[in-house]
Amino acid sequence: MTVFRAIYTSTPFGFDENTLNGILVQARRANERDGITGALICRADIYLQWLEGPEVKVRETIARIKHDDRHLEVQVHVAEPADERMFGDWAMLHDPAQTWIWSQAEIAGGAVDRATSQEVTDFFLRLADNANAG
Ligand SMILES: Cc1cc2nc3c(=O)[nH]c(=O)nc-3n(C[C@H](O)[C@H](O)[C@H](O)COP(=O)(O)O)c2cc1C
Repeated sequence: MTVFRAIYTSTPFGFDENTLNGILVQARRANERDGITGALICRADIYLQWLEGPEVKVRETIARIKHDDRHLEVQVHVAEPADERMFGDWAMLHDPAQTWIWSQAEIAGGAVDRATSQEVTDFFLRLADNANAG
């Protein structure tokens, strides 16, 4: 079955545990309703999110997310059809950013603006490998 997937990055605004928990509760509730699964990598300096599901739902979700004032500078790096889900077991897997994404110094140095779609996709494929193995 074909699904649609999108990956964006953004800069957290007002990042703390309460805010993050609020986002995750809201995201999981809405994603269960919409048939969306995915993963959110988060750190004080960056969000990276992978969303997969029916194309219309993924696009509507991204449109809502772009207007959310809990983050800034939403940049979509990937929006494409895919053969299968990579995070099918998770309404939204949460990952406190691990070493396989950019360092804080790399981000401060402009890594997000230089990012290729392959590079951001690979961060999540690695996360999916780990999550699906566990
Ligand atoms: C980093 C981040 C990730 C989010 N992830 C999702 C998500 O996966 N699904 C979702 O429906 N909303 C997500 N949201 C919340 C949306 O921006 C929005 O608040 C929510 O969908 C409710 O929209 P509504 O009030 O217009 O119904 C996220 C917000 C942020 C800041």
